[in-house]
Amino acid sequence: MGSHVSSMPLPRGENDYSTTPIAEEVLQLILESFNGNITMHLSSYNNMKRFISKYITSKEESPLKIADIGSQDVDLVGNYRSLFTSPLWQYCGVDMSAGANVDIVLHDPYHWAELDSNTFDIVISGQALEHIEFFWLAMLEIQRILKPGGICCLIAPSSGPEHRYPVDCWRFYPDGFRALAKYANLQVLEVYVQWDSEFYPDRDAVWNDCVLIAKKPEPEPVGWLGALKRLIKSRDADHYKITN
Ligand SMILES: C[S@@+](CC[C@H](N)C(=O)[O-])C[C@H]1O[C@@H](n2cnc3c(N)ncnc32)[C@H](O)[C@@H]1O
Repeated sequence: MGSHVSSMPLPRGENDYSTTPIAEEVLQLILESFNGNITMHLSSYNNMKRFISKYITSKEESPLKIADIGSQDVDLVGNYRSLFTSPLWQYCGVDMSAGANVDIVLHDPYHWAELDSNTFDIVISGQALEHIEFFWLAMLEIQRILKPGGICCLIAPSSGPEHRYPVDCWRFYPDGFRALAKYANLQVLEVYVQWDSEFYPDRDAVWNDCVLIAKKPEPEPVGWLGALKRLIKSRDADHYKITN
């Protein structure tokens, strides 16, 4: 099985059997889970851990605001909060239902009045989008609450049995996540399905999680500075064409 992360659109008709480059971490996580440290959906926990180490560990010295959408620790088996280790990082659990690991309860699934626009540096969500009937409306809210330049990491299964919290409507593939990012005007940084789930214990092997990492674009600079930046960008693009 290959081990690269697909971030480019596939040519029509081509299949992507790529996996995440984290198989070596899997064994360690499974061992930790047997020691009783983690009992939640391990593959999802692992994908979130990978996201943090790749995109935000370098920002340990910066204050970051993080929102976790659908954060409830439903069976008290663990959650993503403990992954955000820097004392400067402020994690906020957000869910439709009050419960463990929930700081803010949303009253309307598609108008998050409790959360201000352009507030969060990071928005994460694990195993929640498949439970949101009109998930594309929630995606617009994710875009709204992200700061310009902010990043989201969304994880949802591409397969697995029906599990209703309180409904179970959808499964996701990379092309679906790319379409969703395009709809919400987010720039895709990475998207992949975790096809190496068979390394996980039974409970996790069935989900084959799909992961989207996407960025809210910064506004284009205006005036002479904007013109200069656009000129540099177009010269870079020309150079790229010639040398590649
Ligand atoms: C399967 S649980 C996942 C919990 C946790 N993120 C995890 O990975 O274990 C799905 C959660 O999504 C929440 N949820 C469902 N619809 C939602 C919505 N529109 N907005 C926010 N949370 C929602 C449910 O209340 C539930 O707590």
